[in-house]
Amino acid sequence: MDAILSRLFSSEEEELYVLDCLGYFMIVMAACTFVALLFQDVPYGRYAPSTARFRVDARIAWFVQELPAFLVPFCLVVWTSSAKTSLLPNQLVISMYFCHYIQRSLIYPFLIRGGKPTPLDSFVLAIMFCMYNGYMQIRYLSHYADYPAHWVTHPRFIAGSVLWLVGWLVNMHSDHILRNLRKPGETGYKIPTGGLFEYVSGANFLGEITEWAGFALAGYSVHSTAFAISTAVVLSSRAVSHHKWYHAKFEDYPKSRKALIPFLL
Ligand SMILES: NC(=O)c1ccc[n+]([C@@H]2O[C@H](COP(=O)([O-])OP(=O)(O)OC[C@H]3O[C@@H](n4cnc5c(N)ncnc54)[C@H](OP(=O)(O)O)[C@@H]3O)[C@@H](O)[C@H]2O)c1
Repeated sequence: MDAILSRLFSSEEEELYVLDCLGYFMIVMAACTFVALLFQDVPYGRYAPSTARFRVDARIAWFVQELPAFLVPFCLVVWTSSAKTSLLPNQLVISMYFCHYIQRSLIYPFLIRGGKPTPLDSFVLAIMFCMYNGYMQIRYLSHYADYPAHWVTHPRFIAGSVLWLVGWLVNMHSDHILRNLRKPGETGYKIPTGGLFEYVSGANFLGEITEWAGFALAGYSVHSTAFAISTAVVLSSRAVSHHKWYHAKFEDYPKSRKALIPFLL
């Protein structure tokens, strides 16, 4: 793997420069996505166009599209001379990333009940994003990220780690609630209850946004910040869309429930 990287980049300075550019480019793309999502929903799940000709089974789509987010980083950590993986702050931030993606790519897809098939274009875009982000996060953290001495006791790192953990647990718990709304074989929609769904329609999205915001705080780089911004843009739009959709579909949808931020929004 080192041989591939040294063919792609003439020096470490060049690779670091490219990694930074990827981070800034992701922020620009998030801004463009924000504008696009004002006019259109993210086209998968309940918003997948039924006219899409090529669609991928939900479990296969989630497994295949999320797998590069685990495999690319795994190869980088195992098969490159990753200079920083022996350092505690780098290890901890890398562990946050892997905890999420081991669950998301190797476990979550096989728990899905009755998920809608994913249109081919959304599926391909998701694969590309997972490769891009997996390389950017873990190459930076495993080979370049330099944290100050005692970073793991810095309030920013501690706050970020706590946020990450709380967000991860909320995300997994909320996805568990959604999954259990359907009996095996069912594909329809019901009103979610319990956990943070008592307060917001997008509890799973709130968890994931919180998780990557914590990761950005603990990781403290343009790369982790770019991913947190990108996640917040996509998932806040999805939470608002789901909220409106629930109100349109269910007359008895709880009136006090907000879209994404409890009691506020
Ligand atoms: N980091 C990122 O940028 C990013 C981007 C996208 C997703 N994600 C994460 O990936 C996970 C899944 O995302 P998603 O957009 O697919 O979430 P979602 O729209 O809430 O759907 C999650 C699963 O639950 C089912 N479901 C949702 N609401 C339901 C209801 N009221 N009744 C019965 N079943 C229901 C869906 O079925 P259907 O497929 O039939 O709708 C789907 O299988 C979330 O944890 C999300 O945070 C992260």
